[in-house]
Parts: sequence; C-alpha cells; structure tokens
Amino acid sequence: MAQISKKSIVVLISGNGSNLQALIDAQSQGLFSGEISAVISNKPDAYGLTRAENANIDAICVDHTEFADKANFETQLIETIDIYKPDLVILAGFMRILSSDLVQHYLGKIINIHPSLLPKYKGLHTHRQVLENGDKEHGTTVHFVTAELDGGPIIAQKRINVEANDTEQTLVQKIQQQEHQLYPEVVAWFCGERLQFELETKTGSARAVLDGKIL
Ligand code: GRF
Repeated sequence: MAQISKKSIVVLISGNGSNLQALIDAQSQGLFSGEISAVISNKPDAYGLTRAENANIDAICVDHTEFADKANFETQLIETIDIYKPDLVILAGFMRILSSDLVQHYLGKIINIHPSLLPKYKGLHTHRQVLENGDKEHGTTVHFVTAELDGGPIIAQKRINVEANDTEQTLVQKIQQQEHQLYPEVVAWFCGERLQFELETKTGSARAVLDGKIL
C-alpha cells in the first residue's frame, strides 16, 4: 500500500481555542498523521494564539479590523494560510463569514465544527434556540465548508440529551466535550485519506465520502 504523507494543517480561530487544544493534544498523542503548521486568528487577543505558542506552533494574527474591506482581509488571510501549503484548513471557532472566493480556493480541504445538529440551527445562538424550542436532543456537527453558511456536506455528528435543568452554559460545556472528541476523529479520517469531498458530476452537488461510502 502506498505510504500516506503527513498532512499540513492550518487552524483558524477567533477565541478561546478549546477545540484547537483538543487537536494539539491529539496530534501530540499521534492520533492523526498530520501537523498543525500554523494557527491564525482574526482577533489579536484570542487565547487560542497563546495555546499555539505554548505548543511551539506558528501563531499569527490577521486582524480583520485593519483592512479596508472583506476582500482585502481575505487576500491577506489566503496569503498567510498558503505559506504553509495546507492539505487541510480547520475552522475552530472562527467567527468571520468567508466569501465564496475564499471557500472555492480551499474547496474540499476546509472543514468546520458547528454547535448544533445541522441542518438545524445554522448561524449563532444555537444553544438558546434549543432551549427555547424545548428540544430533547442537541449536538454538534463537523462538515465540509461550502459557500452556503453552515450548509456544506455533513461529515459527522455527536448527540447529547437535553435535560430539564440545562442552561446555555451547561449546554456549551456538554457540547464542547463532544466536540473535543469528534473533531480530532474527523481530522484523523482526513489525514488517513479515508475522507473526501466530492462534487456529484450531474448535479454538481457536494457530498462527503468516508471509506468509499457517501455520508
Ligand atoms: C465551538 O463550540 C464550535 O462549535 C463553534 O465555536 C466554538 C469554539 O470554541 N464553531 P473554542 O474556541 O474551540 O473553545
């Protein structure tokens, strides 16, 4: 069997970076055949940058407020990401909506984690909506990124039960626990070349494929 090369990974964050930490830990435990080459934040004070520095990973800020518009910001973002020739770009709490041009540039090798059971609750305030609607079940989703916000093909989900005494805070904690297991697992599939993004030839619709099976 052909040797699988170690993948270069760039992680984009905006904040705390607990998912980034789970990925750093998974890498150091050899759970996937890849290396986080750089962590890029659009916010200078993101704690995730400190987590990257502590792990001797290049930590870079591309501050969106310093650019005249989104196009200029994204040009700089792409230039910075591409220095690391990534096989995989991971969005881990990156709070900027990406243009279709940027998504196209990384199509098939950019993934996101979203705190809901997509297609339910795209966008913000997912935990609040779960509580307001009295949902009994909640969860998290990893998906390939396409130009549609939180709308790309789903790769994997993890579910939790919503209890009567749950609050937004307890849901954040429960969901993040699930995320910290799920994201490294999906990254391992991708790095092991078990997971691919495909465009259906006739319709052009996107899908995720794991071990040759459409997800
Ligand atoms: C996660 O809950 C993720 O689902 C969402 O943003 C949050 C990031 O948290 N996209 P952290 O910065 O990884 O702690």
